[in-house]
Amino acid sequence: MKSGIRRVNRMLVPVLLAMAVAFLAVVLGNRSGRPFTVRERRIIRQSDSVMYVTVLPEDSVILRRRSAELTPAEVSSPELETLLAKMLSTVRSPKQDGVGIAAPQVGIGRRAVWVQRFDLPGEPFRCYLNPHLDSLYGEVTHGPEGCLSVPPLRGYVPRYSSVIVSYLDPSSLRTLRDTVHGYTAIIFQHECDHLDGILYIDRADTVFVSESWAAERKAYDYRRPSWYPRVR
Ligand code: NI
Repeated sequence: MKSGIRRVNRMLVPVLLAMAVAFLAVVLGNRSGRPFTVRERRIIRQSDSVMYVTVLPEDSVILRRRSAELTPAEVSSPELETLLAKMLSTVRSPKQDGVGIAAPQVGIGRRAVWVQRFDLPGEPFRCYLNPHLDSLYGEVTHGPEGCLSVPPLRGYVPRYSSVIVSYLDPSSLRTLRDTVHGYTAIIFQHECDHLDGILYIDRADTVFVSESWAAERKAYDYRRPSWYPRVR
């Protein structure tokens, strides 16, 4: 009896050590020097090119959290490159058909957004890392807005007509500054709010159900994938 217990103990030590190492790897996550957390890397790697978009109320934890600045290691990582490509495919997909998207909307609590630049020739989508609105100014308008994460509502939201945004440019890795006016300035305000856990419904004068958007969504399956990791 006693020797049997000793044998079990000898076997248990390496097993417990391995479990402790695995536990620390999960808990330390982002502090291990690798870019992104274990959970985030799984979402980035395993998602289809059109990602699952987080919605209220199911994903309120991730949507309401303040997102973290991208670290230099994350900015130059292949994970970020994949994430940005999939975010762009997601916002441009017929299923979503958006004009902007922020990383928390695909389950990643990092400061990265895509904005459609209606003020530039060809109306291209552009990516902004660690964006910061240095200044909001000009006339305040109360225009209609919707959000991929708050279906199928729309609302009228007060927004400034102009913004000055500073950001890290993903191509040159330089910090740049841009002044933007009109509808595109409103998209910047909406997307940068996402990075602070703020949704347009928090600022809206009125919110209403969009019957046409509800009808559009009926054509697609919006269920969260079965493998999707829970927020910790
Ligand atoms: Ni939104």
